Formats: sequence, structure tokens, C-alpha cells
Amino acid sequence: MATVNHKGGSSKTTTTVNLGAALAETGRRVLVIDLDPQASASSWLGIADGGRCLLDSLIGGNQLAEAVRQTETAGLDVVPSSTWLLGAERALAELRASEGRLADLLRGLPRSWDYAIVDCPPALGVLTVNAMAAVGELLVPVEAHVLALSGLAQLVKGIDTARKRLNPELRIGGIVACRVDGRTRHCAEVVEHLRSRFGTLVFSSVIHENVRLAECPSFAQPITRYDPRSSGAGDYRALAREVIAQERENVPAA
Ligand SMILES: Nc1ncnc2c1ncn2[C@@H]1O[C@H](COP(=O)(O)OP(=O)(O)O)[C@@H](O)[C@H]1O
Ligand SMILES: [Mg+2]
Repeated sequence: MATVNHKGGSSKTTTTVNLGAALAETGRRVLVIDLDPQASASSWLGIADGGRCLLDSLIGGNQLAEAVRQTETAGLDVVPSSTWLLGAERALAELRASEGRLADLLRGLPRSWDYAIVDCPPALGVLTVNAMAAVGELLVPVEAHVLALSGLAQLVKGIDTARKRLNPELRIGGIVACRVDGRTRHCAEVVEHLRSRFGTLVFSSVIHENVRLAECPSFAQPITRYDPRSSGAGDYRALAREVIAQERENVPAA
């Protein structure tokens, strides 16, 4: 799956890292693929310099498995990003069929992980398009704020285009309301609006505003390790349970 929303600051990275850690806590093996040149998921997971491995995989012939690094969280691995990936945008534009590069790389990965979560950059550029071409499901975090909703229609349109042009399997696995402040009426209204517009596509779990979530990147730990008893850890565990339940629904009947 891939975490997308072209709007910056919509909790993509926070959701990628902490949902990944919460899934890993249940014994699943999780691979985070950091597709953002800002490399915030990589540094959050303790990789200070991701080097050019991912770039070499995307535009050269390297296997993605060579770029995988372990993290200090059991069951959670990462393909780190770095500013090298800034060069990927232009380089990919010059390659033929460049939208399918990540999909090819994922097909070449050994089946060692139960989940791969791609953390997308805050744009609908060639890197995000690569993610949409490569995964079956998109996870869309939305900041629970009216202004954040306006970009959602555009995102849904972009997803429809990617489905038609590149990946007929692509679907929205779920929309998750993030940074929900339980004390404000405004937040509740935004979540209600999301549910009336997108129905069951919206996860039942919401991620509340929690300062511990904002703190933990500086300590290079996911919330499940930084503060396992925080509300943030609880919220991401609840989201992980929903994601795991979906996995069961999606298994075709024998
Ligand atoms: N539930 C939350 N509670 C508090 N702060 C949050 C929460 N979710 C995200 N943030 C903060 O919001 C900012 C943007 O989040 P981030 O995950 O980096 O977004 P994106 O990857 O979409 O740009 C970060 O400073 C992050 O710490
Ligand atoms: Mg991010």
C-alpha cells in the first residue's frame, strides 16, 4: 500500500512510520519504502543518510532488495530515501515507461514482508505516480480541517486517472482522519463530512492530535517504542487492527 495525499503536512509520514510499527508489533513483517526526497520517514526510522541506493534502483538496474535496511524496531525494515532522489524526477522523465519502475522493482523483491508501505512525497509527480502504479491500495491520511478537504477531490481524480492509465487494481484502501482534536466541534464536523462524502472508505479509527507523535521523530523511534502507552500509539494500533481485518476480507474465498 502507499500513503498518499499531495498536500504537505497531512500526516503521511507519521501514518507510514507508526502504522508500520503498529503492524510490526503484531508480528507482521513490514517494509517502509521512503519515496520522499525529504527522507523524513528514513530519519524517523534511524537512517541518517539513505545514500543513492533507491535512486540506483529506480533509474539503474539495481535490485530493490539491495537497498533494504533493518531498523531498530523488530519486524520493520526500510528502503531509505535521501536528497539523491531529487534527481529521480528528471531522470525518470527521460526514461521510457518510467511510471512502472517501482512496480517492476516490487515484483523483483523476495516475499519476505507482509506489508510494504510507500511513503509518498507531497506532490502528484512522477514518484507518486510510480507508487500508484505499484500498489493495490492507497491509504489517504487527511488532516481533520476544512481546508484539507478541498484538495481531496483533486486527489480522487488523480487516483482515477492512475487506475485507468496504469493500474486497474488500484483502489483506496481507506481514508484516515488525522490530528483530530476531540475537544473541538470543528473537527467532529470535518470527520462527519468525510463520512457522509466517502462512507465506508473512511476508517472507523481516527488519529487524535497527540504531542508525543510530534515529538518522536526527533528521537528516531516510532510511537510504539517512544511512548507505547500514549494515545497516539493506541490510535495507530487501532488503525493497524482495521488494516489487518481488511486483509482478511480481501482474501478470496477458497
Ligand atoms: N496526530 C498528530 N498529532 C500531533 N502532530 C501530528 C500528528 N500527525 C502529524 N503531526 C505533525 O504534523 C506535521 C506533518 O506531519 P507529516 O506526517 O510529516 O505529514 P506529511 O508526511 O504528509 O507531510 C508533523 O510536524 C507531524 O509531527
Ligand atoms: Mg512526509
